[in-house]
Amino acid sequence: MESFLIKGGVPLQGEVAISGSKNAALPIMAAALLTGEPCAIRRVPDLSDTRFMVQILESLGAQVKFERGTLSVRAQKIRGYADYDLVRKMRGSICIAGPLLGRLREARISLPGGCIIGARPINLHLKGFEALGAKIKIEGGYVDATAKKLTGSTMFLGGRAGSTVLGTANVMMAAVLADGVTVIESAACEPEVVDLADFLCAMGAKISGAGSPTITVTGVEKLHGAEHEVIPDRIETATFAIAAAATDGEITIRGARADHLRAVIDKLNEAGVSVEKRGANLVVRRKEKLKPADVTTLPYSGFPTDVQAQMTALFTLAPGISIITERIFESRFMHVSELARLGADIEIEGPSAIVKGGRPLSGAPVMASDLRASAALVIAGLAAKGTTQVNRIYHLDRGYERMDAKLRKLGARIQRVEEK
Ligand code: EPU
Repeated sequence: MESFLIKGGVPLQGEVAISGSKNAALPIMAAALLTGEPCAIRRVPDLSDTRFMVQILESLGAQVKFERGTLSVRAQKIRGYADYDLVRKMRGSICIAGPLLGRLREARISLPGGCIIGARPINLHLKGFEALGAKIKIEGGYVDATAKKLTGSTMFLGGRAGSTVLGTANVMMAAVLADGVTVIESAACEPEVVDLADFLCAMGAKISGAGSPTITVTGVEKLHGAEHEVIPDRIETATFAIAAAATDGEITIRGARADHLRAVIDKLNEAGVSVEKRGANLVVRRKEKLKPADVTTLPYSGFPTDVQAQMTALFTLAPGISIITERIFESRFMHVSELARLGADIEIEGPSAIVKGGRPLSGAPVMASDLRASAALVIAGLAAKGTTQVNRIYHLDRGYERMDAKLRKLGARIQRVEEK
């Protein structure tokens, strides 16, 4: 297993280019299963999660080529069965269910199970499939969705934490080939859902309202091949912006979408960090001393849960008390005990982390527990005095393209080493 060795205390300086969005790319790759014609998807980030999705598509019978960020998929003849060994490795692989059901009228997929950040149920995905007329059976750890006919209907997909991103994606992908009109109420509004809808429309689907809580899909008989460019990764953008703020540096983030990051930019501003839009770039630097603030994660356009851990790391450096409340996933505070190893003073109270910031951080060996927790530990390590070893960075490699190389270009002293 590999680790990062970080010698902290260097302010990040320079330019960094943002990769395509992981969470947009995964369902878009799955959507290519909806047609037998060739699709080309550009700006796909080279990550272990996207490589893994390639394996899943191939196991279903698709021909896939992944070269220099462009993924070519031809799913001429596919099967509707994805087994446990594939699905268990990546929870996001559940988004193949919608396209398989839409195209083949059957999907048999191993249930993904929970993960370290929470239970991660799929009841809302299944509720949507049933509303389209699918019969659902759960047996032997697999979910079987079959339909003689898929018929459009109106459904409410809100759950205990609000909307569901992959649930909305899955139902949208099944509904594009259903008969009649589907209306998804309480749909997820995330930019990744809009990007998927754009790709589906390029394939010939009829979708309106993506990006709002009501999405309307008018079924068509067939989809055709299409080309698409994935949106820039808003979570990677936020992670680099926070790293610049944490190290008191100044960086230019190329190819970022400020309009996808309103809630994050607003909180950074409140914390004393300036994020200035210059054309297609964002320039990030501290404009004053870091200040504490309160953050609550919410579905889009609220503050993203995928940036909560990184922001918690930043607030350990802001003198005063910050309260970070996690409303999407029930156990997404695994980074807190590791941040404490660097000297951070954080207490968990129910769904909130109370950060008493301002104590200097000092390097230590820490363990990554999930993707965004790993990013938080890297940020803290960059800001800490001395050397931090972040172990188990395979979590980080799932969702950040060459993060160590990008950080080195910004002046960080970070090396990838074999874990001892
Ligand atoms: N939920 C249900 N029932 C469902 C589905 C979800 O109750 O059927 C609940 C979840 O338990 C959670 C909330 O709804 O409390 C939101 O979950 P959502 O379904 O939106 O999450 P997801 O679609 O499985 C995607 C991202 C996550 C990101 C969440 C929230 C992908 C591949 N994953 O997951 O990304 O945290 O949306 O924005 O798109 C990450 O990149 O690190 C990551 C975890």
